[in-house]
Amino acid sequence: MKFFPVLLSFLLLSVSCATSAPVSFDGFLQCLTRKTQSTLPIFDSIYTTQNTSYDSILHAPMPQVKKNSTTGEKTVEVSFIAHFLGSSDKLVALLNKRFPELGIQSTDCHEMSWVESIVFWADYPLGTPISVLLNTTNMAVYSKGKSDYVKEPLSKDVIESIWKHMIKIEKILLDINPYGGRMAEISATATPYPHRAGNLFHVMYYTYWTEAGINATNRYVRLTRELADMMTPYVSKNPREAYQNYKDLDIGVNQDNQTDFATAAVYGMKYYKDNFARLVLVKTMIDPENFFKNKQSIPTLPRVGDGYIRGILPLIESAIG
Ligand SMILES: *[C@@H]1O[C@H](CO)[C@@H](O)[C@H](O)[C@H]1NC(C)=O
Ligand SMILES: *[C@@H]1O[C@H](CO)[C@@H](O)[C@H](O)[C@H]1NC(C)=O
Ligand SMILES: *[C@@H]1O[C@H](CO)[C@@H](O)[C@H](O)[C@H]1NC(C)=O
Ligand SMILES: *[C@@H]1O[C@H](CO)[C@@H](O)[C@H](O)[C@H]1NC(C)=O
Ligand SMILES: *[C@@H]1O[C@H](CO)[C@@H](O)[C@H](O)[C@H]1NC(C)=O
Repeated sequence: MKFFPVLLSFLLLSVSCATSAPVSFDGFLQCLTRKTQSTLPIFDSIYTTQNTSYDSILHAPMPQVKKNSTTGEKTVEVSFIAHFLGSSDKLVALLNKRFPELGIQSTDCHEMSWVESIVFWADYPLGTPISVLLNTTNMAVYSKGKSDYVKEPLSKDVIESIWKHMIKIEKILLDINPYGGRMAEISATATPYPHRAGNLFHVMYYTYWTEAGINATNRYVRLTRELADMMTPYVSKNPREAYQNYKDLDIGVNQDNQTDFATAAVYGMKYYKDNFARLVLVKTMIDPENFFKNKQSIPTLPRVGDGYIRGILPLIESAIG
């Protein structure tokens, strides 16, 4: 880890239920259900397992450009943020066993409720009251995001090129999510999300700016695309995979009110790999008129004449069991 100009260890800790017993992941889910309105079932969207060894849901190194306050020199600072569902004692013990070189102490941890962690992820300083979430007047912040999956370690030279490019853009952060572990155990076809075993990490390039106007937009979008172009040799290929939740209109976009199959196949394979075909079959069965759509939605099967190819529905039904 010597190549990071500044290493800032920061760990966020989230416990929703105060309890003296060790907090298990299943226990956390029960707690979440108890504390969640039944009309908003967060519970359903969280992957659960009998094995309670899985309790860290996020651990993201986050490189960002920082200015040295005395010299004015720009550098890249890397924050390691872990969002752990359990007590700080348990986390400190775990990290000191696995990453003793980090020297994590309980003072690096902040225990908070789930809703307080939402305020944290929205980039407010620690201690900001949760009532800030009621403020619906947002500052205008423009952004451009792109994402990549990395399967081979990056060399120091590549990391240095990334740093240089980031310093040129300045208003950018990289959000890096490590893979392996539980992510590698889940089959690529178990859910629509296909990016599982074989990935070292996922990276989001996120450029954000507040200057209004087309010139600022053009500059930041161009620089972000240049960074992604520079990364081409070092990331996933055929297809160059992308994360559907970080919508990137550079990888294909439909006109209003239509979902063109050939256009969709390009972004669809990047977002869903082989699962794309099954998603098309499901879409064709459930929403044949393409009522639900956005510029990067799943297409229906192309129509032939005034209908689908004869016998397609039984085929779909058997394909999705
Ligand atoms: C829990 O982990 C053990 C050991 O890795 C494994 O044998 C078992 O199948 C797992 N159980 C579940 C429900 O995933
Ligand atoms: C700022 O630069 C000075 C002089 O090079 C250095 O001693 C100091 O550690 C730097 N501060 C940070 C936060 O990097
Ligand atoms: C709400 O947010 C806006 C934009 O950040 C800010 O200008 C305003 O003061 C905030 N209002 C309150 C009541 O905090
Ligand atoms: C945008 O850039 C062009 C070309 O450099 C310049 O002529 C124009 O005045 C700029 N517009 C704004 C709003 O800054
Ligand atoms: C798309 O469809 C909506 C709803 O039918 C309609 O209001 C809108 O004008 C259409 N847009 C275009 C560009 O055709």
